[in-house]
Amino acid sequence: MIIAVDGPTASGKGTIAKALAAHFGLPHLDTGLLYRAVGLQCALNGGNPDDPADALAACDFPDAMMANPELRSEATGGLASRVSIHPEVRAALFDLQRAFATQNGGAVLDGRDIGTVIAPEAEVKLFVIASVEARAQRRYAEMLASGRKASLAAITADLEARDLRDATRSAAPLLAAEDAVVLDTSLLSRDEAIARAIALVELKAGIA
Ligand code: DC
Repeated sequence: MIIAVDGPTASGKGTIAKALAAHFGLPHLDTGLLYRAVGLQCALNGGNPDDPADALAACDFPDAMMANPELRSEATGGLASRVSIHPEVRAALFDLQRAFATQNGGAVLDGRDIGTVIAPEAEVKLFVIASVEARAQRRYAEMLASGRKASLAAITADLEARDLRDATRSAAPLLAAEDAVVLDTSLLSRDEAIARAIALVELKAGIA
């Protein structure tokens, strides 16, 4: 069974995808980390993330990059959003994602275009959304909890800019697949969102 979990930044899709993978005993790939690795490698190369050739050259990042703690920073998220605009970058990352999705036994992938481009045949497609306010508040709490300085206004502005870029790019814009189930986590706790997602998968896959 392939489970595609798509949605905007900080919607809760990563948490939900990880929990679904654990619950159903499936391997999980956070595809945002691949774009983050390209963005960070581009910066390390001294390249311009808005330049397609520089961004493409950065797709050749070393394996060790996937363990770099900088991958999860807000700054790297911004770089990822910029390099992910280029069709060349999306094409370079396609085979790896496709192979992960189609491995024997199935998989859970989370990202922006899993249900539309990477695995349109996925048995279950969730499109996880939440209001900008709820997402900014979560990010803010996370940053404070990890001892980092944060500004709610700056986080909100950054999320809005990233949403706009992800939704309006011409290559694989963030869009719910026609057959995706939308899960709005704005008013749900983490555990409620996970329980709802598990129930939706069971229903869709005819497990319940
Ligand atoms: O989910 P995230 O914040 O880690 O993603 C970082 C950026 O990567 C996001 O702004 C858009 C891009 N991305 C993408 O274009 N396609 C994916 N499947 C995953 C992420």
